[in-house]
Amino acid sequence: MTDLKRPLRSQQWFDDPNHADMTAIYVERYMNYGLTRAELQSGRPIIGIAQTGSDLTPCNRHHLELAQRVKAGIRDAGGIPMEFPVHPIAEQSRRPTAALDRNLAYLGLVEILHGYPLDGVVLTTGCDKTTPACLMAAATTDLPAIVLSGGPMLDGHHKGELIGSGTVLWHARKLMAAGEIDYEGFMEMTTAASPSVGHCNTMGTALSMNALAEALGMSLTGCASIPAPYRERGQMAYATGKRICELVMQDVRPSQIMTREAFENAIAVASALGASSNCPPHLIAIARHMGIELSLEDWQRIGESVPLLVNCMPAGKYLGEGFHHAGGVPAVMHELQKAGRLHEGCMTVSGSRIGEIVADKVTGNREVILPYDEPLKHSAGFIVLSGNFFDSAIMKMSVVGEAFRKTYLSEPGKENSFEARAIVFEGPEDYHARINDPALDIDERCILVVRGAGPVGYPGSAEVVNMDPSAALIKQGVTSLPCLGDGRQSGTSASPSILNMSPEAAVGGGLALLQTNDVLRVDLNARSVNLLIDDEEMQRRRAAWKPSYPASQTPWQELYRQLVGQLSTGGCLEPATLHMRIIARSGGM
Ligand code: FES
Ligand code: MG
Repeated sequence: MTDLKRPLRSQQWFDDPNHADMTAIYVERYMNYGLTRAELQSGRPIIGIAQTGSDLTPCNRHHLELAQRVKAGIRDAGGIPMEFPVHPIAEQSRRPTAALDRNLAYLGLVEILHGYPLDGVVLTTGCDKTTPACLMAAATTDLPAIVLSGGPMLDGHHKGELIGSGTVLWHARKLMAAGEIDYEGFMEMTTAASPSVGHCNTMGTALSMNALAEALGMSLTGCASIPAPYRERGQMAYATGKRICELVMQDVRPSQIMTREAFENAIAVASALGASSNCPPHLIAIARHMGIELSLEDWQRIGESVPLLVNCMPAGKYLGEGFHHAGGVPAVMHELQKAGRLHEGCMTVSGSRIGEIVADKVTGNREVILPYDEPLKHSAGFIVLSGNFFDSAIMKMSVVGEAFRKTYLSEPGKENSFEARAIVFEGPEDYHARINDPALDIDERCILVVRGAGPVGYPGSAEVVNMDPSAALIKQGVTSLPCLGDGRQSGTSASPSILNMSPEAAVGGGLALLQTNDVLRVDLNARSVNLLIDDEEMQRRRAAWKPSYPASQTPWQELYRQLVGQLSTGGCLEPATLHMRIIARSGGM
């Protein structure tokens, strides 16, 4: 083992002759399960394994087994592993929404990393919000840390077709609305998309965020894309356990890895991946906890012009296994490097700079990872919109398809803009209750609007903006309408939506003033969405508006609502973003 660059903080607990009484108390209970005093006082690093897997978090559950390989790696490198639970965040089952738990898991993890005798931590990531929650905590504490992704599920298949988790749901919903499948057919088709352990196999939020963790330099090379059941996943777990010990001994901190340049690399990678629309708020949140003021403007400035290089659902046709065999994140970064779109000097947890790592990582499959100058789509990043009733919203251009362009964005003389009649819903429950109400008179020139779905309104912010047209329209062949709202949408959705509208309706954003049958003008060239009513009418509505949102159901929901910021700035607990490097601050340990 290499020499220590600084004393281990765990020895403040386990070996302090000046406080023998406290040392004795700390040491004796850890000896209870077989650790020896000699081990605890040997000056070997104590490595936490932040366990996000449990029976309640099925996407990460195999981390319970992977942790055994992590522990073997830690032991072989001279460290002592200590596994502990992270508050579960299960995207597919947490009510009212898993987004509520990202900040809760973050808070809990910060307290553990700060308050226990840990010298470094392996962050087990996977399901959507588990990755940003872990990285936010690593940023705040600045304790040596490394990401171990759980990896995507195997590819899904149904009747000879590749089908992806999440994405299949949006497709099957339309088939059921059109009367082409029934409940049994719906269940069979959707569950076939998830054939093994692992997180979603589409380029949804889970695979996107794990890819960005690797692009940031926080995991070993190739970690993100290895499918969960592959043997390489266990081998990666072992290598990750070994490597964290070296990071502790060399005192490599997240602040040396997650720099502004690293975040800019991650933005470029997100565009090339056709990454989830949840990546902007998550990456902004991680950066802000690192003390870096990343903004939506950075996403547009750096990311918008980057082409779509990765042919994965929902923007393309392949899934996690195909992405992995094509070379995964390093092969994507190789294309960006050749195009001069990478900060090559960024350090990574592997000990090498990103430019060196990806220099020879040419893809093995041009069907899945395309060359920069022959992409699936040009300028495929997110655009940032604003208007006379909101400050910012995003739109994911990689999923804006030809059919949508033809219907809405190609009127001669008005290319890239359209006007639409708003149909306004008060949250997802109201949408489901009324979407098929004939009185709404929904046609193909309507825009579906949902409000009350932002961080305060639907505490956490709901993934609901990707709304389907009415069943009647779907039966006529109109399978998608433009959507807009203050909520988010699933990263697995290909809906052409204007999302994450900030400020949200619940805090008095102008979205609260919209009425059904108002006309909105969307102009993608001008990056604007404007409500076509005069100022007097706007003021009249503003004067009549009263703040309201459903009562909090739990104490955490209430605390969350009091402290949370808007999605445009990451949906963070605002007091937590004050630049607190907690461990660095408390005596440099
Ligand atoms: Fe957990 Fe998709 S629901 S990764
Ligand atoms: Mg999601």
